[in-house]
This record gives sequence, C-alpha cells and structure tokens, in this order.
Amino acid sequence: MTDLKELEAKILSEGTAINETVLKVDCFLNHQVDPFLMQRVGEEFAEYYKDKGITKVFTIESSGIAPAVMTAIKLNVPMVILKKQQSKILNGDVYQTKVTSFTKGTSYELTLSKKYIDKDDKILLIDDFLANGEAAFGGIRLIEGAGATVSGVGIVIEKSFQPGRQRLDDAGYDVYSLARVKRLAEGVIEFVEEV
Ligand code: G4P
Repeated sequence: MTDLKELEAKILSEGTAINETVLKVDCFLNHQVDPFLMQRVGEEFAEYYKDKGITKVFTIESSGIAPAVMTAIKLNVPMVILKKQQSKILNGDVYQTKVTSFTKGTSYELTLSKKYIDKDDKILLIDDFLANGEAAFGGIRLIEGAGATVSGVGIVIEKSFQPGRQRLDDAGYDVYSLARVKRLAEGVIEFVEEV
C-alpha cells in the first residue's frame, strides 16, 4: 500500500484516459515533469527499498529518468540510464537485448555499457509505466546477464489490467508500484483498492 495518495490525485485531476489502454500523463511525467511530485516519488521508493542494500538505480530512457534520479539521490547511489539503440553495436563493450513494445509496435536494442555494472551490484530498476513488462524484463535480462542482482522493480504507474505486474510477481521480483490502475475507459480512471 502506497502512502503516495497525491500521485493518484494528480492522475485523476491531470491525467486523461485516451481509451481503454492508454493513460496520458504528459503534463507531469512524460513531457512536462513535476519535480516536486518526482521528489516525493523518489522518497517513497527509497523508503520502501532502503534495507535492500541497493548499490545503483537503473532506469530506461527517457521518462524513467526523473523518478530514478530522485530515488538515487535519496538512496545516495549512482543512477544509470539504459539506452534504446536502433541497432546492434558490434563491439564487446556493451550488453544488449532486444525489446519489443506492444503499445508502440516498435523494437529497440536496450543497451548498457559494461563499465557501469559490476557483478556485485544490487540494482533497483525504476520505470514510469508498467504495461506488458517487456521493458522491465529487458532491463532484468541485461542486469542478470552481467551477473548482478535485481533487488527491486519500482514503477510509478502500473496498469494492473495488463500482464506486466503478474509476470514480474510470478518471476519472484520485489515490485512496488506507486499507483495501480485497475481500469481505463474514455474519461474513466479507476485504481486498485488496497487494504
Ligand atoms: P511494457 O514495456 O510494459 O511492455 O510496455 P510497452 O512496451 O507496451 O510500452 C512502451 C512504451 O509506452 C513505454 O514508453 C511505456 O512507458 C509507454 N506506455 C505504456 N502504456 C502507457 C500508457 O498507458 N500511458 C503512457 N503515457 N505511456 C505508456 P517508452 O517508449 O519507453 O517511452 P519513454 O520512456 O521515452 O516515455
């Protein structure tokens, strides 16, 4: 259960359900960024994962960067951005894995320089949205492929009616989503009620 009720309030007041699957939050997360809300998001993730020995916060460009950097400040660790490259880089300096987005119908090579990960790292992966989980599992493949540990997956907005959350839970990851959207329809946004 998150204490971040102001995130749900912001989604209700400024977000728009475009249709049954897409929630537009350009005004505070994906285009314009509300830095004070992101600061609260970072505090909340840091509080939840504070005893996990996190050594680095990872995120996927671009909208994960704001919440990830705020979380990294609170945990006092570096933040690393996983890059989306159009094609394979043919040298041994990077780890790469292909990610296909169902929402956007596109693919990219998620890319991480070997310099920025160590097998002893305990990594908190942060992202803005969780839908099908393809981006999150791409990040996980890179981290685990490097021999490091995924110690948590922090999500700002989870669309609980899509399979990503269940897939991550089933795989045993410690997922913490600050807002869990149960249903979207034109003009309708409903959250999962937690006890
Ligand atoms: P998945 O990783 O969970 O499988 O999600 P998917 O491929 O379907 O999502 C692809 C992109 O669309 C991601 O952004 C994701 O954050 C975004 N997205 C998914 N559902 C929604 C939604 O309901 N609302 C909004 N605003 N975004 C959504 P991206 O391409 O990585 O872009 P960005 O990080 O540069 O913003």
